[in-house]
Amino acid sequence: MQREPIIAPSILSADFAHLADDVDAIATADWVHVDVMDGHFVPNLSFGLPVMKAVSKVTEMPLDVHLMIEDPERWAPDYAKAGAHSVTFHVEASPDPAALCRTLRELGTKSAISVKPGTAIEPYFDILDDVDMVLIMSVEPGFGGQSFMAEVLDKVRALRQEIDRRGLSTLIEIDGGIAADTIGASYQAGVDAFVAGSAVYNQADRAAAIAQLREAAVA
Ligand code: DX5
Ligand code: ZN
Repeated sequence: MQREPIIAPSILSADFAHLADDVDAIATADWVHVDVMDGHFVPNLSFGLPVMKAVSKVTEMPLDVHLMIEDPERWAPDYAKAGAHSVTFHVEASPDPAALCRTLRELGTKSAISVKPGTAIEPYFDILDDVDMVLIMSVEPGFGGQSFMAEVLDKVRALRQEIDRRGLSTLIEIDGGIAADTIGASYQAGVDAFVAGSAVYNQADRAAAIAQLREAAVA
């Protein structure tokens, strides 16, 4: 059976003055990707918990929260308590990713870890039992609209193999530079969930952009 690609448009590329409309415009997608940046872990600042809460009031879609922040132990639980479907934090920022994943699960949310392009995933294979999703960054986190780094697909393949070998249900997500011309190779490498910011929001017809990504993934 063919895996159905999960499409998660990133509202980082939305019009913040019309956020409710821009969330409405992606209703045919699967998840809303919420990029939280603190200006420390990454050199950019986006938005935080109040905006995530505001978005949760205007949509029933699952919120896929991506924390690009320092000290996730301190902040991640609040996003879980606010009803995030999944909370992703960076292993580079966490002293004990497995413990934080367990905390997130106890709060009723999906636990997810992310690795930057230069961070290996193999050292985290031994904590996969605590992890519902692994987000492989395919750009340096911090900004939308960057070019896809195809070399991270080796990491995706290694992770896919490990997940399948152990019969785990851990999902693989990819984020950065995903568009109609890069989504197919990512799907082939074993990605389940695809974040797309500019590829969706830079097109006037967001539903068409989402449909195009779905088709291109499995083409
Ligand atoms: C980058 C963010 C991404 C970003 C992706 O640090 O984590 O989610 O919005 O944007 P595109 O799809 O334009 O690369
Ligand atoms: Zn993201």
